[in-house]
Amino acid sequence: MRNLVAQRETYVPAMGLYSLARLYDPAVRLFVRERALRTGLIAKARIAPAHRVLDLGCGTATLTIMIKRAFPHAEVFGLDGDPEILGVARRKAAAARLDIRLDEAQAAGMPYAESTFDRVVSSFVFHHLSGDTQRRALQEALRVLKPGGELHVADFAVMHGGPANLASHVVGHFFGGRRRDVIPLLTMMSEVGFERVQDRGRFPTILGNVGFYSGAKPGPPNCA
Ligand SMILES: C[S@@+](CC[C@H](N)C(=O)[O-])C[C@H]1O[C@@H](n2cnc3c(N)ncnc32)[C@H](O)[C@@H]1O
Repeated sequence: MRNLVAQRETYVPAMGLYSLARLYDPAVRLFVRERALRTGLIAKARIAPAHRVLDLGCGTATLTIMIKRAFPHAEVFGLDGDPEILGVARRKAAAARLDIRLDEAQAAGMPYAESTFDRVVSSFVFHHLSGDTQRRALQEALRVLKPGGELHVADFAVMHGGPANLASHVVGHFFGGRRRDVIPLLTMMSEVGFERVQDRGRFPTILGNVGFYSGAKPGPPNCA
């Protein structure tokens, strides 16, 4: 019980406030070339038609829905800790008539068995998490991935300097982010046991560069 309360206290929802969940999609459309960014993340993830894929911190499920549309035979899951935003996600998935499973849970304690997923993808989530929770979320991602399965993350890259500070401020207030220096993620991925950890490039937005990061669970590459 105490753990649950502690998690609630440190939880940062999509727009910084649970009640703003419905404004999230319009805000993202305003600040990010969303379709290009999400298409880029999906391409990097090299999802195969029969894969089981988890969208970690799925929010309103825009990425989750894009993945299911692109790979109709894949089993696609979304996980998020905010029931409000999952409400928006469920309405969108139902309107699109897509069979997607959406689970309310914490990134640091996922309700899935070991070696469940071929891919875990995650966009704009890690900057919401404290360093400690980032590490636990990465450990959980490693646990739920199959051997050779891959984690693919898109999130704001480290931001420094005048305009970048302004961008960090905007991210902090409108996207609920808590951190200015976003994620020494690659180091942390290696430390928790990911292999083939890679910086996969940058995507410029008016809020600063978004970085793509990936790593694999030890095992033979899992591409089919
Ligand atoms: C900025 S939104 C990104 C949503 C979505 N991935 C996207 O690309 O639009 C961050 C999401 O992470 C979720 N989140 C934050 N902390 C979390 C945690 N500890 N466990 C699970 N989800 C979390 C929030 O509820 C929110 O939906």
